[in-house]
Amino acid sequence: MLWFFRSLPQDKNFSFLLGNLQNIPKDPESRIAYGRYKMDHVNSKFNIFWQGPIEPVVVAYHPDVVRTVLKSSAPKARGFGRIYELLLPWIGEGLITSNGSVWQRSRRLITPAFHFDMLKPYVQVYNKAADKLLRKMEPFADSGSEFDFYPLITLCTLEVILKCALSYDVDIQSKDKDPYAQSTRHLTEKFAKRARTIWYWPTFIFKRTADGRKFFECCDYAHSVAEEIIEKRRSQLEKDGKPQSAHLDFIDILLMARDEDGQAMTTTEIRNEVDTFMFAGHDTTASGTMWFLYCLAKHPEYQTKIQEEVDALLEGRDSDHIQWSDLSELNVLSLCLKETLRLYPPVPFIQRVLKEETVMEGHVIPPGTIVTIAIMHLHTNATVWEDQDDFRPERFSWEEAKGRDSFSYVPFSAGPRNCIGQHFATDEIKVLISRILRKYTVELVPGRPAPIRYAQGTLQSENGMWLQLKHRSSR
Ligand code: HEM
Repeated sequence: MLWFFRSLPQDKNFSFLLGNLQNIPKDPESRIAYGRYKMDHVNSKFNIFWQGPIEPVVVAYHPDVVRTVLKSSAPKARGFGRIYELLLPWIGEGLITSNGSVWQRSRRLITPAFHFDMLKPYVQVYNKAADKLLRKMEPFADSGSEFDFYPLITLCTLEVILKCALSYDVDIQSKDKDPYAQSTRHLTEKFAKRARTIWYWPTFIFKRTADGRKFFECCDYAHSVAEEIIEKRRSQLEKDGKPQSAHLDFIDILLMARDEDGQAMTTTEIRNEVDTFMFAGHDTTASGTMWFLYCLAKHPEYQTKIQEEVDALLEGRDSDHIQWSDLSELNVLSLCLKETLRLYPPVPFIQRVLKEETVMEGHVIPPGTIVTIAIMHLHTNATVWEDQDDFRPERFSWEEAKGRDSFSYVPFSAGPRNCIGQHFATDEIKVLISRILRKYTVELVPGRPAPIRYAQGTLQSENGMWLQLKHRSSR
């Protein structure tokens, strides 16, 4: 079987000890360029990457291949060193990591929590978080000095998810000393570090490192806080027969969910899902917002168009708060957001294991094969996208997008395991960006090197996201 994989398109620089692992460049931009090179010059649909001498991984970046995998019920890749396995001590068998009937039941129970009616009241949570973010940005606009946007936006999106998932109401944007918020930050960072550090993969080694000890300590802490909140809410719901506040958060909805046998979710099941939202719902949104602002600073003509759109929408109103009904009116902003998520997908890679024989470009790939879907390469595949590296939001206009293969653009994945938080995330980003651009104009810092893309769990910038602000004089 290994000879079969050796006959497929791949980097011929193969080591009998490490496979292709030794070919991965050290610096993050070159790593992305290496993947891109194979797409542009080895094969435009997929290639084989040898993770060691005997583990071939299919790396897919063409809609023809991506479609077959994402439409199937191919499970998440689990087992030693797999990203989903490394998440287990924190988020357990939640929606992201689980497979088969466990996943199916959870998805059915949780889907109502993301219904439009549930998402509507969250718009005010995004606005309140934006109020604080704008206050924190103000001194930079006053002085004109450069600042790194990333730490500001991560605290903001963390505050939002804490509020929406748990009604955990803390002003972490001003204080940043809240232990639960801090433990979520540690968990995200330590998980990302473990994923990129091979010798951290065996649990018995990781547990003996300072990073590992911190990770497990934070897991215990995060679990105990969530369990306490869930138990309190459960007993209160049992006593009163209804949730405490009119504004339902994710916990309320999960506590009230029943499967077809009338079974409620257990405390651990709810805790796993809450932790899943913490993991999936803040770094991704922060990454998307950060790259969006960067694209607009780089393409001021689109920034101006969005400002005009937001100004027209808010004309004559007393407040700059964006309302639920405004979100569907932000057409230019929506096109620009789609183009940002094409060029800078917050989740650059995902993985599956094939459950059955799958034909890729005429080759029959056997079950059990790991497939990495390289979302970031798919989105810049020259055989799919014209002027693939240009920022041109019009490509998402109705006229240009009609007839396009829907599997050529999958920032939120696609098929049965697509992102359940897609609308939550896009609503949040739309509110944050409209609010920022209503007040400020964002510019690149002259002489600062461009951000260095770092594709780990989420798409980061290795050297931060340094920007400058100007107060908008016309308003
Ligand atoms: C811009 C922001 C976001 C992006 C780009 C994004 C992207 C994705 C992608 C690509 C997947 C598939 C992962 C995989 O196959 O392993 C996914 C799954 C998921 N996302 Fe998101 N996500 C975002 C925000 C959110 C938010 C805000 C939440 C929750 C509040 C969320 C919750 C989830 C969950 C629970 C899954 C697993 C769904 C399942 O397998 O049934 N995401 N997301």
